Amino acid sequence: MTRSTVKINLEAEAILDPTIQPNTAPSFSQSNHILLTGATGFLGAFLLYELLQQTQAKIYCLVRSPNPQAALQKLRDRLRSYNIWQDAFSDRIEAIAGDLSQPLLGLTDAQFQELSDRIDTIYHNGAWVHHTSPYSLLKSTNVNGTQEVIKLACQSKTKPLHFISSISVLQPIKLSDRKLFMSKIHSTPIAFLPAAMLKANGSQNDSSRSFAIAACPFRFTVLEQLQDIARQEFLTRMISFTSSCRAAFS
Ligand SMILES: NC(=O)c1ccc[n+]([C@@H]2O[C@H](COP(=O)([O-])OP(=O)(O)OC[C@H]3O[C@@H](n4cnc5c(N)ncnc54)[C@H](OP(=O)(O)O)[C@@H]3O)[C@@H](O)[C@H]2O)c1
Repeated sequence: MTRSTVKINLEAEAILDPTIQPNTAPSFSQSNHILLTGATGFLGAFLLYELLQQTQAKIYCLVRSPNPQAALQKLRDRLRSYNIWQDAFSDRIEAIAGDLSQPLLGLTDAQFQELSDRIDTIYHNGAWVHHTSPYSLLKSTNVNGTQEVIKLACQSKTKPLHFISSISVLQPIKLSDRKLFMSKIHSTPIAFLPAAMLKANGSQNDSSRSFAIAACPFRFTVLEQLQDIARQEFLTRMISFTSSCRAAFS
């Protein structure tokens, strides 16, 4: 089998679309309308649960589904599978059928505008998490998707954006330091590039532009009785990762 190597200019990849500009300083006052991505995922389900428990806000969940009804059902099923669903949650959740890999998150112009007018805070946790897929495959969801979320954060009022990724994004690494960069196997550039975009758009001297917060999921609290589930999830990922590696190198 021959392997072709495609050179990717990572520094160019990390440049945020210059048309995306926040017009105002973000407001960090109480949030009544929160957008959460990736709520059907492992981390996202617990994040949704905690947001419902710890705030009074309405939570808007962007879910890959054909319509809002199916999106809500998918959320319900996912939280039920972790024994954290409560029927009362239905009134506090608005499920939005969308797709991170699509322009405007798969929404129409009007839907995107309406959402950006309504939302106060964004938790961007959705991602295509796959340890062996190439950058070219993951880019549309993880990098372009994050750019669309930043666009939403900047449109209308500027919203605080909590970015869930890997702990690696918090370390100061130079994009040009390819060796160090590529050694960060578990995050790969995928996790780092959106963070670079966020950092690039924030300047210490210009408070109106610094709206990003990088959040580290290792600090996220998983309910103690559910830690077994977390272990199982990790184990499933490890098994899948190991079999992908075997397939790739055999
Ligand atoms: N789990 C951990 O221990 C851990 C550790 C370190 C970092 N993280 C980070 O935390 C974040 C979430 O990880 P996770 O483990 O919860 O991943 P996950 O279980 O695979 O969940 C990913 C979520 O993203 C959604 N998603 C994927 N592609 C999408 C698309 N095109 N449009 C809309 N939604 C899409 C998935 O929706 P579907 O249901 O439609 O697939 C799912 O809700 C990632 O950034 C990951 O790197 C997690």
